[in-house]
Amino acid sequence: MSTFLEEIDHTSLPRHIAVIMDGNGRWAKKHGKPRIFGHKNGVQAVREITECAAETGIEYLTLYAFSTENWGRPALEVTALMHLLVETVKNEIKTLMKNDIRLNAIGDLNQLPKKTHDALISGIEMTKDNKRMTLTLALNYSSRWELTEAIKVISTKVSDGTIATEDINSELISAHLTTHNIPDPELLIRTSGEHRVSNYLLWQIAYTEFYFTDIFWPEFKKQHLLEAILDYQNRERRFGKTSDQLI
Ligand code: FPP
Repeated sequence: MSTFLEEIDHTSLPRHIAVIMDGNGRWAKKHGKPRIFGHKNGVQAVREITECAAETGIEYLTLYAFSTENWGRPALEVTALMHLLVETVKNEIKTLMKNDIRLNAIGDLNQLPKKTHDALISGIEMTKDNKRMTLTLALNYSSRWELTEAIKVISTKVSDGTIATEDINSELISAHLTTHNIPDPELLIRTSGEHRVSNYLLWQIAYTEFYFTDIFWPEFKKQHLLEAILDYQNRERRFGKTSDQLI
């Protein structure tokens, strides 16, 4: 069986892959289990994909773990997800250290339950000097929230004279987003057959290639990540130019 690994061109890897992990609930239902069973198995996929991304040489991996809209799910599921996050972050610190992976988080972290918030902040602090890959969890994140916050900060700076209206450009806006220290993703993967971006990194994905797969997140394995990277490498990214101009 081809592993895809030998087909990948390591000189033209996407630096940053963003993922919308979707389908945990449907995967659990398919197996006659409660939704949280899907999330628990989703954590296994997170581990496998993080490891594979780091081994392949991806510099930034950003996972959509909890959106601002997810608070609307049944209270039991939200509580279980928050608990799972605490457990996962705590359990994975050793592996992150061993693999030189820096943990990062984007989103309105102050609104998370204290235990989740504290586990996350401690994981971020412990791994802050790691260099091989940055693993960012989007937690209580939504693009509209992020852009709204950025606009508030920028307008305050304009009114107090720190910046002039004419200084506002796309670099300045990017610098006020939660992703200011992360390059824009070259590749966005969404699992489970849904073709939406669901309020995820809307500003940052202006030139991102999208990859959709029908596979449910708990079934998304190394092979599938490598297949997505290979698919990305076979595309021509034109950034608004013509093919001839790229030669
Ligand atoms: C989408 O599946 C998944 C989520 C909203 C949560 C993702 C969480 C995990 C994979 C577990 C914890 C993560 C980390 C990073 C430790 P869904 O529930 O929307 O599935 P459905 O669309 O089939 O209902």
